[in-house]
Amino acid sequence: MSVDLAPLHTPRTALGELPATMSAWAIREDRLGEPEDAIQLEEVAVPQPGPFEVVVRVMAAGVNFNNVWAALGQPVSVFKYGDHPEFGHHIGGSDASGIVWKVGEGVTRWKEGDEVVIHCNQASYEDVEVHGLDPMAAPSQQIWAYETTWGSFAEYCKVQAQQLLPKPKHLSWAEAASYGLTYFTAYRMLMDRGQIKAGDKVLIWGAAGGLGVFAIQLCKAAGAECVGVVSSDEKGELVKQLGAVDYINRNDFKGMMRTGDETPEQEKERFGVSRQFAKKVKELLGDAPDIVFEHVGKATFPTSVFTVKPFGKVVICGATSGYTLDFDVRYLWMKQKEIIGSHFANAYQCMKANALIDEGKVRPVLWKTVGFEETANVHQLMRDNKHSGKIAILVGAKDADEGRTDTASGRPGAIHAEVGG
Ligand SMILES: NC(=O)c1ccc[n+]([C@@H]2O[C@H](COP(=O)([O-])OP(=O)(O)OC[C@H]3O[C@@H](n4cnc5c(N)ncnc54)[C@H](OP(=O)(O)O)[C@@H]3O)[C@@H](O)[C@H]2O)c1
Repeated sequence: MSVDLAPLHTPRTALGELPATMSAWAIREDRLGEPEDAIQLEEVAVPQPGPFEVVVRVMAAGVNFNNVWAALGQPVSVFKYGDHPEFGHHIGGSDASGIVWKVGEGVTRWKEGDEVVIHCNQASYEDVEVHGLDPMAAPSQQIWAYETTWGSFAEYCKVQAQQLLPKPKHLSWAEAASYGLTYFTAYRMLMDRGQIKAGDKVLIWGAAGGLGVFAIQLCKAAGAECVGVVSSDEKGELVKQLGAVDYINRNDFKGMMRTGDETPEQEKERFGVSRQFAKKVKELLGDAPDIVFEHVGKATFPTSVFTVKPFGKVVICGATSGYTLDFDVRYLWMKQKEIIGSHFANAYQCMKANALIDEGKVRPVLWKTVGFEETANVHQLMRDNKHSGKIAILVGAKDADEGRTDTASGRPGAIHAEVGG
């Protein structure tokens, strides 16, 4: 279907009113596969906000790996979850900046016209965990625009009012849309689950990726030292610029990656390379890491468990290379190490992390800002690991600089990563 993108940059209705339909990049169950084929532009009905919900006019959207998984239908199809069966489409986009366009019944904290960024955790107000334990523990907990539809790769998105955060005024719409999901995840991994403290030493996998660029900055803010692992020297330079002590090019230790089909002899050889890698990490940090920041999974997990210090922590939130992990458990129990799962962040942690961005203490790392028409293509880039830092998509905003309303404070905007691609 051909969709006219011209009206994107001009509001089509007054605040508080919504048009009947909108342009959206959607995934359907019958075309799961490579992102460039699975994610297609469609004209869909605009959602109305329910009680305690808000519809936001999207000014810019941020790209995350979760929509690559959604496109591929792996490890499970998103169409089994949330409101997908009701609407039949998946509109991804778990990061956004925009303008509150219509508020639902019961919303008092936000009003139409407010400029916001959006965090992607949803949970029901009725679940007791939301009120006493952690919304991440609620049975109703789900990631907006992954386990639900109505994400930000569309003119309008629909969210719970508790997902809204004030947009940092010194950032453009594109910069403000680029950091939420990965930054808030890294914040919980290190600050809450990892209990990082000044003087700690940290090993960060994928250090020039979406999570990694924030993990480095958080280590620096916490007074910890980190080493980042990357796959090119250009990415390594970015990692150093962000505050890492140094970087390791993983191509120098190719043999440490677990594939899962090794013979006992190959296992032994692989372990030998992991040992050399751990030695290099120790050399660069001055000691073994107190925390290993994990999200690569199968390929790196045995090395992570081996490399972390006795009594240290491997904090893991993802498994890009495969989620069935195996490792030699003797290195875990004999050295009393911990493996800690972590998933996104709660609204309070998002608010605290957003304040660091607002104060200019942590900066978005924006590799590329593209037009709305590029949505499927940039997901393919990410699928092919040809990116660095974050990618923003202009939706309502006309250009990459639009939306900055504070230039007087002198707070810097995003770091523009000139590597990758
Ligand atoms: N649970 C959560 O809340 C949550 C939140 C955010 C992300 N995640 C998950 O975490 C993972 C990373 O997310 P991201 O946004 O950081 O993705 P990303 O931007 O693609 O960065 C990941 C980095 O990992 C490295 N990598 C990829 N394959 C690797 C391999 N086989 N061995 C070693 N390194 C490898 C790559 O860096 P080099 O090539 O430079 O080494 C890449 O830049 C994804 O699986 C994502 O779904 C989970």
